[in-house]
Amino acid sequence: MRAVSEADERAIIDRYARHVSPTFVRLLGVLGFGRVFVRAEGVHLYDSRGRRYLDALAGFGSANLGHHPPALFEAIRAQLDAKEPGILHAGPSQSAARLGEALARATGSKLEVSLLALSGAEAVDTAMKLARAATGRRGFVSCEGGYHGLDLGVLSVMGNKRIRGPFEPLLEHCARVPFGDDAALERALAKHEPAALILEPVMGEGGAVLPPKGYLERARQLCDRHGTLLVFDEVQTGMGRTGTLFAFEREGVTPDVLVVGKALGGGVVPVSAALTTRALYERAFGSMDRFDVHGSTYAGYALGSAVACAMLESCANPSLLENVCAQGRALVDGLSSRVGQHPMVRSVRGAGLMVAVELGSPREGLWQRMMAPIVDNVAEKVLGQWLCVKLLEAGVVAQPATQRWNVLKLTPPLTIDRSHVRELVDSVGAILDEYPDPVRVLRDAGLRVGEQLTRGGAFR
Ligand SMILES: Cc1ncc(COP(=O)(O)O)c(C=O)c1O
Repeated sequence: MRAVSEADERAIIDRYARHVSPTFVRLLGVLGFGRVFVRAEGVHLYDSRGRRYLDALAGFGSANLGHHPPALFEAIRAQLDAKEPGILHAGPSQSAARLGEALARATGSKLEVSLLALSGAEAVDTAMKLARAATGRRGFVSCEGGYHGLDLGVLSVMGNKRIRGPFEPLLEHCARVPFGDDAALERALAKHEPAALILEPVMGEGGAVLPPKGYLERARQLCDRHGTLLVFDEVQTGMGRTGTLFAFEREGVTPDVLVVGKALGGGVVPVSAALTTRALYERAFGSMDRFDVHGSTYAGYALGSAVACAMLESCANPSLLENVCAQGRALVDGLSSRVGQHPMVRSVRGAGLMVAVELGSPREGLWQRMMAPIVDNVAEKVLGQWLCVKLLEAGVVAQPATQRWNVLKLTPPLTIDRSHVRELVDSVGAILDEYPDPVRVLRDAGLRVGEQLTRGGAFR
């Protein structure tokens, strides 16, 4: 049954296209895979026509407990009932204090001070300011394919030229190295003597790429040797996503600064934080004339802080983390055995419930090898997106990694169970069965684009 009338659905699309993001609506019209999602509950999304979808995106890794989980309802209700000032800055805020303490405890009290913020980008930007102010150095080293947000400061450490390009020149003294390459990292640290190395412990938008074993440990040692601070951006990997509360725990390496966002607010409120040691905080912001050189109006706001405390408690729950490990393993195993031998599948990999299926053109046969450069180029842009279109039509919401469109990245809520894993495996498997090679994908995607053009780029 429709949840929203056709006229209301049209009004939402038109209003959004006119006043929020014309390009996004236009883009959905290219392949006709627009949906108006009007409700979300648990691991499911519901569209305006009453259809249910399994959410394998979870707000790009924000809704870790699923949509509207009871724990957050309770935290929000209790917070509103308490009538604590929402935004203060005229004295210590109770809820921000509680969140700072909870974050410190979550790192075993190694990173004792939290600089609170709202978005992931703002918190990475905060880490960059902290690193400059604490070290007196200017530069940053980050990874090719790395993603740290879209604000002007953090774009300087963005690993993708397409996204960075329109806003250049950005901060000077920024260098990028291949993820996982110790030798390149050592050369960059020696040459640039940067204030900080900014690293995702598992590269998310770069395609769910796991580092070689020991890479984080070696990065720690290299940073210590070169006087560079180590910043782990756990905006996407944090809050249980990879099976531990923070991904850095997997290698037991503690950074100088830990950045958390997304799921800290549970997909309900914006909250993020850059955590650091007391010593580094003092060096950067400890003098009286620096007390106001960093901060923002909503930083540490009471409602966000209260939700974040509830999220931290829930995401650190051992049974949730066990579920992440078990379902993550089942998803990787299931996909590996169902599609691992498919000619277009290059690899299936994952860390907890950040799972990737990397696609590419097959390498067998003379024709395939000769055509590979051309097909690869097109495939890079089309394969992942087409798979997501077909998944949506099959009732699963997913997206390719934003920096590598040939990688299907699955980041469902951490609360999924085995039946959802089976649904994901079956859906991906059934679609890939339809497409034994990229040429058929290109044919069908091309036909769809043509059809959409004749329909004037209709939304769905
Ligand atoms: C690793 C990482 N850092 C930072 C960000 C930016 O977060 P936000 O979009 O909240 O600014 C993202 C967003 O996807 C991310 O994946």
